[in-house]
Amino acid sequence: MNQSTLLDILRYPDPRLHTVARPVAAVDDRIRGLIERMFATMYDASGIGLAATQVDVHERLVVIDVSEERNQPMVLINPEIEWASPEKRKGEEGCLSVPGIYDGVERSLAVRVRALDGEGHPRVIEAEGMLAVCIQHEMDHLMGKVFVEYLSSLKQGRIKSKLVKAQREAMRS
Ligand code: NI
Repeated sequence: MNQSTLLDILRYPDPRLHTVARPVAAVDDRIRGLIERMFATMYDASGIGLAATQVDVHERLVVIDVSEERNQPMVLINPEIEWASPEKRKGEEGCLSVPGIYDGVERSLAVRVRALDGEGHPRVIEAEGMLAVCIQHEMDHLMGKVFVEYLSSLKQGRIKSKLVKAQREAMRS
């Protein structure tokens, strides 16, 4: 993949990660180009999901691919959760904006989401398992929420200082 197509991913605790995204007004060439670059960035970073918020674009758009073969790209534009199962489970999550950190977050086991796809067509997605978790995680990003905010303030503090230190060291080298 051409490096110039890759987007920079904001790293926690960058305050821009707490921006609430506005709806995508139209699925036009600009949005299609953004989708392409977001997929390239997500696959390059070996992620399973990426929200526009993470690349400093504050519009309600996420790209996801939870498949083993990395061949089931899914685009959610202006997603809204229509239903979330009351049954929840705690599972380990990570995030491209919080590199190297994994911790348990409780999520609904299944969700039903209404969204536009990459061509702007309305879709209803019924998801469970990893896809359901990923959709909830990415939709949190659009609300300015990073998964570490579900953890204790003690853990959040530790993660913040660890990442700030790592970023400082990366800048020096
Ligand atoms: Ni994330």
